[in-house]
Amino acid sequence: MKQIAPSILSADFTKLGEEIAAVEKAGADLIHVDIMDGHFVPNLTMGPPLVKSIRKITKLPLDCHLMIDNPEKFIEPFAKAGADWISVHVEACNLAELLPAIKKLGCKAGAVINPPTPLKKILPFCERADFVLIMTVNPGFGGQAMVEGTLEKIAALKKYLTDQKLNIPIEVDGGVKLENIADFADAGADIFVAGSGVFHTGDYKKTIAQMKK
Ligand code: DX5
Ligand code: ZN
Repeated sequence: MKQIAPSILSADFTKLGEEIAAVEKAGADLIHVDIMDGHFVPNLTMGPPLVKSIRKITKLPLDCHLMIDNPEKFIEPFAKAGADWISVHVEACNLAELLPAIKKLGCKAGAVINPPTPLKKILPFCERADFVLIMTVNPGFGGQAMVEGTLEKIAALKKYLTDQKLNIPIEVDGGVKLENIADFADAGADIFVAGSGVFHTGDYKKTIAQMKK
């Protein structure tokens, strides 16, 4: 089943609780939470205290995307704060260790790959992952355009997973909009992160319903 994961990075932080309630009501399947450290990526965002707060106001799974160096130091604080899914970058850690450690904390473990990193770097870890996240922009900011070549990368991963009989979803993140979501789906994506593509539209319900169509 295809799922929509609005990224709260593009929400109005002055009314974050209302924004999350609104996308939940509008049919979102997950809440995507972008964690940035100002080091692995050139931006700073949120941490475990925010996850702890929003955990109380939504029933949706919290999909915490860790764009940080040394993620091994933070998987436990995020799991304790209420993260349901935790994804970590192949560029930032040893996935062979981190993916099982995330599962041990009771969370779904995601393996993430950036646009410049060749797909082959992540393939050996897919069998240990609950999902794979293909970045379709260079991480750090919302509202960027999809990087060329990422649709082909999704399709190549889809083929690999099918050939290996690995039944795990592919999540895509960055530049996903109503206008291009079908291209990502055709390439093989299952879970669609959309920040500005949801929160910068007027009618979340209409946007999410049309995205699902
Ligand atoms: C980018 C983040 C994304 C971001 C996507 O570094 O990982 O999740 O919020 O934003 P949009 O959908 O606006 O490209
Ligand atoms: Zn993200």
